[in-house]
Amino acid sequence: MQSPSRPTALITGGAAGIGASFARALARDGYRLVLVDRNGEGLQRFAGSFDADTEVVTADLTVEGDLARVEQRCREGVDLLVNNAGFGHPTEFLSTSAVAELAMSKLHMDVVLRLTLAALPGMIERGRGGIINLGSVLGFFPSSTYSASKAWVINFSQSAFTKARPSGVTVTVLCPGFTRTEFHDSAGMNMTKIPGFLWLEADALVKAALSDWRQGKAVSIPGWRNKTIAALSRLLPMRLILRIHAGTGKHSLAVRERTPVTRP
Ligand SMILES: NC(=O)c1ccc[n+]([C@@H]2O[C@H](COP(=O)([O-])OP(=O)(O)OC[C@H]3O[C@@H](n4cnc5c(N)ncnc54)[C@H](OP(=O)(O)O)[C@@H]3O)[C@@H](O)[C@H]2O)c1
Repeated sequence: MQSPSRPTALITGGAAGIGASFARALARDGYRLVLVDRNGEGLQRFAGSFDADTEVVTADLTVEGDLARVEQRCREGVDLLVNNAGFGHPTEFLSTSAVAELAMSKLHMDVVLRLTLAALPGMIERGRGGIINLGSVLGFFPSSTYSASKAWVINFSQSAFTKARPSGVTVTVLCPGFTRTEFHDSAGMNMTKIPGFLWLEADALVKAALSDWRQGKAVSIPGWRNKTIAALSRLLPMRLILRIHAGTGKHSLAVRERTPVTRP
């Protein structure tokens, strides 16, 4: 339940990577945390690793009953919702199973929509709080089903921003580029060809994102490199973007000689 003096932040995928960085940063800022993740053991271990008032919710958000529990928790009142849980596929969509594609679409789109619908009306009524949705700079480019789902997140978040803003509530879409987390390893992607200067640390990303959210920005693109990449999506002709993608996509995200973590 919400405390009038201490704001509550609910973070999906809150046990690892960018979600864990949000958790640590928001705990330092005095938030109570509701951490949602599907790996109960990892979640408990992470929640016990730092000093914070934390509620843990083990839930696979692609499973209807689990999602309904988290929706209910959002309706009970949260001040900041971070729709962060997500994953990518190591293969192009033509080589990925429909089941795995639909699980990703559900997590990136349906879950973001339903948790927003559960949390936002209460925030607007109270006239405070907000939502940070995880997009990606890839969402500005036609690159894959992953980028298509993140394009949806960017578009939807901007429309939610315009509805919420008059009440003082900010919906921000955070669009990271390459960020050092377990994301690529979990998906079995080989990232060795991506130059070091393009990577951001998750803690630095989250610091910039929270600053942008507090300033009431609709879109947060941390780092000048990511800002440049996003700007190119508006400046370059689509024909050239498609040719560049055809040339680079198959090299940069080539599947490693390893068995990726099993995804649905
Ligand atoms: N890292 C990047 O370069 C990058 C760039 C752009 C955007 N993003 C976005 O940033 C967000 C966070 O990514 P990350 O890099 O922090 O990845 P990560 O290190 O893999 O962390 C993602 C977390 O979400 C959890 N999760 C995945 N599926 C879930 C489900 N169905 N229900 C509940 N929890 C689930 C994961 O649990 P498991 O460990 O059990 O899978 C993991 O704890 C994602 O939306 C991603 O698309 C990341």
